[in-house]
Amino acid sequence: MIMTPRLRKFALTAHVVSSVGWLGAVAGFLVLAVAGLTSQDAQMVRAAYLAMELITWFVIVPLSLASLLTGLVQSLGTTWGLSRHYWVVAKLLLTVLATAILLVHTQPISYVARVAAETTLSSADLRGLRIQLVADAGAALLVLLVTTTLSVYKPRGMTPYGRRKQHEQRTVSQP
Ligand code: HEM
Repeated sequence: MIMTPRLRKFALTAHVVSSVGWLGAVAGFLVLAVAGLTSQDAQMVRAAYLAMELITWFVIVPLSLASLLTGLVQSLGTTWGLSRHYWVVAKLLLTVLATAILLVHTQPISYVARVAAETTLSSADLRGLRIQLVADAGAALLVLLVTTTLSVYKPRGMTPYGRRKQHEQRTVSQP
C-alpha cells in the first residue's frame, strides 16, 4: 500500500531520526569503549562500562529495532519496494546483520559492566573482551556509515524483479 505524501514524510522523519540516531549512539559507545580500555583512572573505567551498558539497552537496541521497522515501512509503503533496488536490498541485509550481531553482543557488554561495578578492573582484566568491544563498535560504525551513504546516494541498479515490475508498469500505463 503506497502512503500519502503527508504520511510518507512523517514515516521518513521517524526513519531518519532512528537510523542516524543509532549511528550517533554507536559513536558515543565507541568513545566509551576506548576510554574503558585505555584509561588509568579506575573511576573512569567503571563509569565507562556502566554507561555503555545503559546506552546499549536504552538507546542502541531500541533505535536499531526502530530503524529496521521504519525502514521496512519506507520500502513497502513507497514505490521503492523491498527487493526492486540493490541499494534497498543491501541496506536491509546490512541492518538485519548489524542488529543480530548487536543483540548477541549485549551479553558480553552486560558481563563487563557487572564485573566493573563489583571490582576495580586493572588494565589486564578481561582485556580480550574489552578490545573486542572496541573492535565491534568500530565495525558497527563503519556499517552504519555505509547504509547512510547508500540511503543518500541511492545508487541506480535494479534487481531482475525490479526491472520486470518497471516493465509491467510501463506496459500498463502505455497500452
Ligand atoms: C542503519 C540502517 C539505516 C540507515 C542509517 C538509514 C538511513 C536512511 C536515510 C538517511 C534516509 C533518507 C534518505 C533521503 O531521503 O535522501 C533513508 C531513506 C530510506 N530508507 Fe533507510 N536507513 C537504514 C535502514 C533501512 C532499512 C533496513 C530499509 C529497508 C528495509 C530502509 C529503506 C529506506 C528507503 C526505502 C528509503 C527512501 C524513503 C523515501 O525516499 O521515501 N532503510 N534511510
